[in-house]
Amino acid sequence: MIIKRKPIIAGNWKMYKTVSQALAFVNELKRAVDEIKDVEVVVCPPFTALFQVSEALRGTGIGVGAQNVYWVDEGAFTGEISPLMLKEAGCSYVIIGHSERRQYFGEVDDYVNRKIKAVLAHGLTPIMCVGERIEERESGITEKIIKTQTEAGLAGLVADQAAGLVIAYEPVWAIGTGKTASDADAQQVIGFIRKLVSDLYGADVAAKVRIQYGGSVKPQNAAGLMAQPDIDGALVGGASLDVDSFSGIVKAAAGV
Ligand code: PGA
Repeated sequence: MIIKRKPIIAGNWKMYKTVSQALAFVNELKRAVDEIKDVEVVVCPPFTALFQVSEALRGTGIGVGAQNVYWVDEGAFTGEISPLMLKEAGCSYVIIGHSERRQYFGEVDDYVNRKIKAVLAHGLTPIMCVGERIEERESGITEKIIKTQTEAGLAGLVADQAAGLVIAYEPVWAIGTGKTASDADAQQVIGFIRKLVSDLYGADVAAKVRIQYGGSVKPQNAAGLMAQPDIDGALVGGASLDVDSFSGIVKAAAGV
């Protein structure tokens, strides 16, 4: 049986846009992607804008995600946000294990795994990020790194949980640098991730899990990436901050 996976284009806004800027953006985005079918569109604003952006997007089909989470529901954890709070703020996705969190905030595979389990327990969908650094690619250990991160992130999940995940392959050297992985390189690693999922959970789960590419995705390179058999969308940073470029990527994924 051939399973058709719906592409998912998610905008990771990082630490950009105030509430008023976020609202102006999504009101324009609604119009720009109104006619697009068969592509899931998600925006991931900073925490402060989540609630109002979710309200503004209610009923549009555009989803809302957070960029991070802590793994318990409540407690004395100054500065942290729980899955329960994100859910109530209107989120359905949470980016987990982004390379900037791994690089600047000490996020390790074990945290990624705890966060994934915590958000799944609340019915939210994790977007689990994996990716190698440039020196790892140059020393030929890309697959080893990706295997370690993927297996650690998925540890203890059952097949149904794994099937519903979104995984984002983001080579660290391609993030915010303007250097995109070639279509073939991105496909090669993403095909490898799907094989890892297949080895862990079987071919059916591997055929369902959606795997995005991320790292300097733009309207100009999106169509080539999306045409690869295992690439099911994109996690977009810089180009997601502008309505024309973000909607251009959505259109490329829709083939229009
Ligand atoms: P970029 O960021 O598109 O600006 O390279 C991608 C990301 O960090 O998710």
